[in-house]
Amino acid sequence: MRSSGALPIVLGIETSCDETGVGIVQGGDLLANEIASSVDEHARFGGVVPEIAARAHLSAMVPTVARALAKSGLALSDIDAISVTAGPGLVGALLVGTSAAKAYSLALGIPVYGVNHLAAHVAVDIIEHGPLPEPTLALLVSGGHSSILQINDIATDITALGATIDDAAGEAFDKVARLLGLGFPGGPEIDRLANSGDPASIGFPRGLTGPRDAPLDFSFSGLKTAVARWVEQRQKAGEPVPVADVAASFQEAVVDVLTAKTIRACREAGIDNLQIGGGVAANSRLRTMAASRAQAAGIRLRMPRPGLCTDNGAMVAALGAQLIARGASPSRLDFVATSSMLVDQVLASS
Ligand code: KG4
Ligand code: ZN
Repeated sequence: MRSSGALPIVLGIETSCDETGVGIVQGGDLLANEIASSVDEHARFGGVVPEIAARAHLSAMVPTVARALAKSGLALSDIDAISVTAGPGLVGALLVGTSAAKAYSLALGIPVYGVNHLAAHVAVDIIEHGPLPEPTLALLVSGGHSSILQINDIATDITALGATIDDAAGEAFDKVARLLGLGFPGGPEIDRLANSGDPASIGFPRGLTGPRDAPLDFSFSGLKTAVARWVEQRQKAGEPVPVADVAASFQEAVVDVLTAKTIRACREAGIDNLQIGGGVAANSRLRTMAASRAQAAGIRLRMPRPGLCTDNGAMVAALGAQLIARGASPSRLDFVATSSMLVDQVLASS
């Protein structure tokens, strides 16, 4: 390592979706976290267009690395290791980040770690709240995933205890926002609008909560359909749609199920440390309901600040730093980007 004696300086690259993120981390310290987003280019399509995302990563990659270096006051020659999202995500987008990471690794003569984006959403909290107690139970809620994970070791031992059987929580927020005529991404829009609505005004269904349903799995597609039907009926009857009430009631249904199942998972697994991560963890109602339910159940809850919940490079650097600290071998230069990388695979394979 170049920083002799000190902890290695890790540069993390995130390009799994529409954010080009570059973070620099040393141990648990955050030195830089720069983001270039192509979200505005996707807004008119109502969702991320993979080809547009990949091209935007290509033009943002080098400038975003330069900004992160400038922010931290470091030169490329100060970087000890590269960490990069190898999956899951949009494959064209992932290929831009992994190709850049391999090029930096080769040019600088430093190791590269191809890492799992989902584990990185958990690892980022180490920057904010220090070492992760293990085991920890994690609720991972993003645009592509909604899972309950048991983290025995962030570098080697992650097991999914439950997952969505259809839409991810963030996807449900985005789709419901779209049908309510709100902007993209829909999560922050619904979060804001819900503040002025009544969460108890409409009793939307709580998916997979029947006695014979899988207790730790999620389903949000029925809820999305229920919201669509409710809005349609209003419109057919010529009545105004109370958008803030619909947003608040929808959000309440999602957050109620997410928190209830997560607390149940903690109890069943006998784990009293809980971490919530991923873009939906920025949701204000999820944060307050999770805090009160965790407290009532005697569970210690950690959540990164909202800015670290959504995709960023610091989370990828944070996971790389953990892998190095635990003596993991770097990836070979021929490691592959995998759009459907499973959560129990922390490091990419060749
Ligand atoms: O983790 P993330 O940035 O990207 C993925 O890995 O998917 O998550 C993005 C998702 C989007 O669906 C977005 O609508 C949702 O997170 N999101 C939110 C909020 N902020 C972002 N959902 C609800 N409330 C929010 N405040
Ligand atoms: Zn993510």
